[in-house]
Amino acid sequence: MHEMKHPLAFVPTMGALHAGHQSLITLARTYAPHVAVSIFINPLQFENPDDLAKYPRDVSGDTEKAKAAGADYVWAPTVEEMYPAEPTIIPAGPIGNLYEGVHRTGHFDGVVTVVKRLFDLVQPEVAIFGEKDFQQLFLIRQLVHDLNLPITIVAAPLVREPDGLAMSSRNIRLAEAGRRSSLVISRALREASQATGFANQRGVLHQVLATEPGFTLDYAEIIDESNFQLATADTGAARAIIAGWVNGVRLLDNMPMQVANS
Ligand code: PAF
Repeated sequence: MHEMKHPLAFVPTMGALHAGHQSLITLARTYAPHVAVSIFINPLQFENPDDLAKYPRDVSGDTEKAKAAGADYVWAPTVEEMYPAEPTIIPAGPIGNLYEGVHRTGHFDGVVTVVKRLFDLVQPEVAIFGEKDFQQLFLIRQLVHDLNLPITIVAAPLVREPDGLAMSSRNIRLAEAGRRSSLVISRALREASQATGFANQRGVLHQVLATEPGFTLDYAEIIDESNFQLATADTGAARAIIAGWVNGVRLLDNMPMQVANS
């Protein structure tokens, strides 16, 4: 790893960069004069070996995209560099076992472990994470708070394709019909965001998602952003979170929901 100048804003990625990642890098530039991007496909966070094998890899293309978006440093460590010895796994805690954690056992322990290691190696003042992975963002904020790390975590808004699909490195694995089916997710979120009352919003999500036979639901819930529990009358900021499958590709999405009159 090259010597990196500070103050430094850091954008950790697993590569396969798209416009969503580029927006994180652009945002990073507004927080610090120096920007570092890491590209590391972290084996610890893949509970499914097939998903790990199929994860898109293009380090030279990614390096160009990262630099074009404003990165000063692009660092793509090997597994041996990241984990010279069997790593001590940092548990993500109880929230890590909800939602994504139910469907991807150990996933968030792997995420938290790699992010802590990346932070130790890069030592950024600021780190940027996309709201696309909303539960991940919550757990990383929790990690920084619990370990008292001197890093400001900045949340970057989710970026959508023109048709509404949330940008993801996995989208390129969707065939044309799958791509059409996947649009039910953003449609469900948009319609739910027009509804008032968490029960109604949840109802709309499930009703709309059920109209698409090509979509298999893992979960669709309205959560309280402050604690990742189901939204209640005391909730100040609520978000709908959805995960499911189209054509063997797992898709995630989320959107803020109205709280007033809930
Ligand atoms: O969101 C991702 O791309 C990954 O989970 C992260 C944060 C780079 C850790 O591997």
